[in-house]
Amino acid sequence: MSNELQKFTDPGLPAHVHRKADSDPKAAKAAEKQVAILFLLSAIGTVMLIGSYIFVKSNKFIYLPILGDTNLQQLLLGVGMAMSLFFIGMGAVHWAKTLMSDTEVIAQRHEMRSEPEDRTDFVETVKEQAALANLGRRTLIKRSLGLSLGLIGLSPLILLRDLGPLPKNQLATTDWAKGTRLLTDPGDRPIKPSDLEVGSVAQVLPALPTGTERTLENIGKDAVLLIRLRPEDFQLSPERLSWTHEGIIAFSKICSHMGCAVALYEQQTKHLLCPCHQSTFDVTRAAKVIFGPAARPLPQLAITVDAEGYLVAQQPFTEPVGPSFWERSS
Ligand code: FES
Repeated sequence: MSNELQKFTDPGLPAHVHRKADSDPKAAKAAEKQVAILFLLSAIGTVMLIGSYIFVKSNKFIYLPILGDTNLQQLLLGVGMAMSLFFIGMGAVHWAKTLMSDTEVIAQRHEMRSEPEDRTDFVETVKEQAALANLGRRTLIKRSLGLSLGLIGLSPLILLRDLGPLPKNQLATTDWAKGTRLLTDPGDRPIKPSDLEVGSVAQVLPALPTGTERTLENIGKDAVLLIRLRPEDFQLSPERLSWTHEGIIAFSKICSHMGCAVALYEQQTKHLLCPCHQSTFDVTRAAKVIFGPAARPLPQLAITVDAEGYLVAQQPFTEPVGPSFWERSS
């Protein structure tokens, strides 16, 4: 052995420290109560977490000296979760340190699967240790731990609600319909083919029926990009070509990957780029995906002009706009 290694000696196990609860039933009882109180505090924290989520309004604020205006629901959720996790941990540690058997056990390494005799021994040992820990006798601890663990198990359920409602078929329907005029965004002006030069891009929204208010939700679903190419640039099926007008083609602006706004157009390559994960769509081939994680092209809106020469939709979108998983969820 090298001199370096000789400097280190095996410290062995620390000396056994006698615990009062081992020999004094009164101390053991007191420790049992302390553990139960810690588990109950954990349960109270979880009740606070669930209760504040259900009963406290998410827009209620209170003023706190150091934090200033603070959202009450967020505050109670945080305090509740901290209490439930902290006190259940404290209870377990205190229980182990004061009441559980503190006999040192050294386990030798074995093959991954133990011999049948060892497995039987293990079961026996667990039973023995459970008896030594007086689990059967300490009903107070058993019950308070059961309550605390049961409530903690419930808390993730309320987080599921935060995932929000399923979109169902909301994205299958937009405000685009047969004859709906395309309005500039911003500006809300109807648009004629002559307003767009070859190579230019415009964002448009559908004209809504009089008295209907445009909401952010509508804009999120309805936004469409108009791009004008030379008609000979297209490599489209006859049907898709009939959805264009004088070289103008329209696509949903919502990325079919995860719903970001497809906002970048490369005039030279005629590619649309999504800035979120770099999905790239070829405008000349009906927004076919040529790079990135998007699984399908941007939905194309069929357009034409009305009697006054303004651009209008020929029909609604023929497929849901937005991420593909929304389409699958409907
Ligand atoms: S959201 Fe567009 S590439 Fe991911």
